[in-house]
Amino acid sequence: MTRPADFDVPEEEGFDSPHALFKDLRGRCPVAWSNDLGGFWAVTRHEDAKAVLENWQMFTTTVQNVVPPVATTQRRPPLHLDPPGNIPYRNAILRFLTPQRLEAWQPRIEAMVERFLAPWVAQGGGEICSEFSFLLPIALLAEFFNLPPDDAERIRVVGAEFNMALQRQDFETLREKSDALYDIARALIEDRIAHPRDPDSDPTASLLAVRVDGAPLAPDLALGALRQFLLVGIIAPTTFIGSMAVHLARHPDHHAELTANPALVPEATEELLRLYTPYRGFARTAREDTVLGGRQIKAGEALAVVFTSANRDAEVFEEPETYRLDRGARDLLTFGRGPHMCPGAPLARMLLQEVLRQLTARTARLEQVGGIEMTRWPEYGPLRAVFVAHPAAGKKREG
Ligand code: HEM
Repeated sequence: MTRPADFDVPEEEGFDSPHALFKDLRGRCPVAWSNDLGGFWAVTRHEDAKAVLENWQMFTTTVQNVVPPVATTQRRPPLHLDPPGNIPYRNAILRFLTPQRLEAWQPRIEAMVERFLAPWVAQGGGEICSEFSFLLPIALLAEFFNLPPDDAERIRVVGAEFNMALQRQDFETLREKSDALYDIARALIEDRIAHPRDPDSDPTASLLAVRVDGAPLAPDLALGALRQFLLVGIIAPTTFIGSMAVHLARHPDHHAELTANPALVPEATEELLRLYTPYRGFARTAREDTVLGGRQIKAGEALAVVFTSANRDAEVFEEPETYRLDRGARDLLTFGRGPHMCPGAPLARMLLQEVLRQLTARTARLEQVGGIEMTRWPEYGPLRAVFVAHPAAGKKREG
C-alpha cells in the first residue's frame, strides 16, 4: 500500500540518529507513514504504542510480526498467534521463569558473564558484539534449553548469519538460515521424543507435554514455537550490551559511579533499557479501518510499535534524553505490553544487570574507537563497536 510518506527510513544510521528522527516524529507526526520496508505506520508515542499492544482484538500479530516484513511459510507461536491460541505456548516457557526458578540462574549467569568478559577485558577489549555480547545470550540459551554444545555452536553461527541477512534485507539467505534453524529445532524435538525428559526440567519436553482440550500441540506449531524460542532471546541482548558500553564510554562519570556503588546497577540497567531500547519494529496489522493518533489506518496496514521511541516520550518521562537514577518505577515498554509481553524479561534483566555489574567492576574505563556499525529495523543498537577496556585497579591487563 502506498500513501504520501511522512518520513523515509534513512539508508545510513548512527547511534543517535534514530532517536533524533523519533523525537521529531513524536512532535510533528506521532503516527507516521513510511513507504519503506514494505510500507508501515511508525507508532512513536508511549500512549499509542500501549494502545496498539493492548488492543489485540483490533491489531493482530497473525499477519506481520516485524518491520520489515519477513516472508515466512510457517507460524511461530506464541508471537504469531492472538489470544487465546498463544497462551499454551507461553505457559510452556513461563513455568521455567518463576522467581524461584530464576534464583538458581543467578550463580550460573555470574559464571557465564565472567567466562566471556574476563578474557575480553584481559586482552584490553576489542569488538564487543562478536567477541562478547553475541556469545553470551547463546551460551545462556544453550543452558536454558539443555542443548548439546554442537547445537549451541550451530545456532551461534546460523543466528549471526540470519541477523546479517535481515540487516541486508537479503530475503533468500534469510529463508535459508531460517530453514537451518528449523532443522535444529526439529532435531531437538526428535531427540526429546526418542529420549523423553522431565517436562519440569526441559523446555522442549514442556512444550511437547502441553495439552489443549486433551490433545497435544499440532506438530508444526510446536516446531515453530521452538524455532522462535531459539532465536528470540539472542539479538536484543547482543545489541543492547553494545549500547550500554557506548553509554559508559561516553559518560565515564556514570561508569565510575557504578564501579564505586554496584548497588545502583539494577536502577542503572532499567534506565539504560529505557534510553537504548533494543526493539523498534515488532509489528501488528489492523484488522479493520480505524483511527490512531488522529490518523486513518486502513484494514491490512502494518504498524511498527516503536518501543525505542515510546520510552523517550516526554509525556511520560521527564527529561527523556537524560540518564537519571532517581526515576523510581518506570512505565517501560522495553519488553512490550499486553498478551505478547516478553516472558524472558526477568532472565534478560538478570543477565544484563550482571553484565553491567561486571563490566563496571572489571574495567575502570571504556574508550570507544572508530565508528559504530548499527543494526537496522526491527532492532536498535550496535552490530559492531570497538572499545579499549582499561582494567580496574587490581585487575591487571594480561599481555
Ligand atoms: C534485552 C532483552 C530482550 C528484550 C528487549 C525483549 C523484548 C521483547 C518484546 C518487546 C517482546 C514482545 C513482542 C511483541 O509484542 O510483538 C518479546 C517477546 C518475546 N520474548 Fe523477549 N526480549 C528480550 C529477551 C528475551 C529472552 C532472553 C527470552 C527467552 C528466554 C525472550 C523470549 C521472548 C518470547 C518467547 C517472546 C514472545 C512472547 C509471546 O508472543 O507471547 N526474550 N520480547
